[in-house]
Amino acid sequence: MRISGTHYRAIWITESGTVRVIDQSRLPFEFATIDLETLADAAHAIKTMVVRGAPLIGATAAYGMALAARANPSDSHLTEAARTLHATRPTAINLVWALTRMRTMLAEVQPKERVDVALREAAAICDADVEQCRLIGVHGLELIRGLAKTAGRTLNILTHCNAGWLACVDWGTALAPVYMAHDARIPVHVWVDETRPRNQGAALTAFELGAHGVPHTVIADNLGGHLMQRGQVDLVIVGSDRTTAGADVCNKVGTYLKALAARDNGVPFYAALPVSSIDWSLQAGSAVPIEERSPDEVTHITGRSSSGRIETVRLVPEGSTALNLAFDVTPARLVTGLITERGICSASRAGLQRLYPELRAAE
Ligand code: MRU
Repeated sequence: MRISGTHYRAIWITESGTVRVIDQSRLPFEFATIDLETLADAAHAIKTMVVRGAPLIGATAAYGMALAARANPSDSHLTEAARTLHATRPTAINLVWALTRMRTMLAEVQPKERVDVALREAAAICDADVEQCRLIGVHGLELIRGLAKTAGRTLNILTHCNAGWLACVDWGTALAPVYMAHDARIPVHVWVDETRPRNQGAALTAFELGAHGVPHTVIADNLGGHLMQRGQVDLVIVGSDRTTAGADVCNKVGTYLKALAARDNGVPFYAALPVSSIDWSLQAGSAVPIEERSPDEVTHITGRSSSGRIETVRLVPEGSTALNLAFDVTPARLVTGLITERGICSASRAGLQRLYPELRAAE
């Protein structure tokens, strides 16, 4: 993705071998990068959401294992490192997927070879994510092309949270088809849910779309249903932090309400996800662990004041408590289809098994 004419990934290795990420906690007001030197740096970046988004969490964890191997490639140290990274955030399955892949690779080689192997494997995970997101874009583009042709006017697409290139390594999941449609001169406009409480939509999706020149409008999370009733949403595309073998879609809290409104209004609702976001061990979404974050994210909000300073202010009365569950599950029956790197399938166990016949799902 290009920012002011320079191509960036959300995570990369510098020429001197440093792992570098974009500090997403400072966007959209400041574009800054952070170097991850140690396992602790990688774990901290995931936990504090300097990096976030399911595929990017997995990619950062992979490099976290490489940094751990650099410090000490012993079995016991790497076991502890995987435990530390695993404890950072509970919902995105990409974290477990990346750690399992790294541990399997590292167990097969002698400690002295582990740094090189880990760096190579982390880079391979990143490159594969970029290609998978590109293919999600290619398949989603055809969906958008068809709907735009039928509509015969600008296609209005609603998205929730940030499932763009900042949430992945490049391209994004839900936004990859949007970028490709825009580049193909298909007229698209994106309704960007602000995504309270952390505002990933208002801060990150709006930043990305703006940098790419895609027309978009930020809306309060509660507006989507009304816009759908008025025929102003043609398509919903969201990402996913964990999609079960039964095709229940866990994603940023608020996604379920959009799916309900979409179903009531006959608006197609798609989730876009790579294979690393599928949890083959779970059939039902009710078993997905839902992250509970600090109530401060609900009681307070951060933004830039008119004086240019980044400030955090309180929104609720002193003494009121708040609950901050960060994800919800949209049942498969409300999902029109899944856009994956292998194509689009129905949101069902059979649909997923048709696309991934070699990956066995839990009964
Ligand atoms: O809490 P976050 O910002 O990590 O949550 C991100 C999301 O919910 C995204 O929609 C999801 O990871 C899909 S990413 C391509």
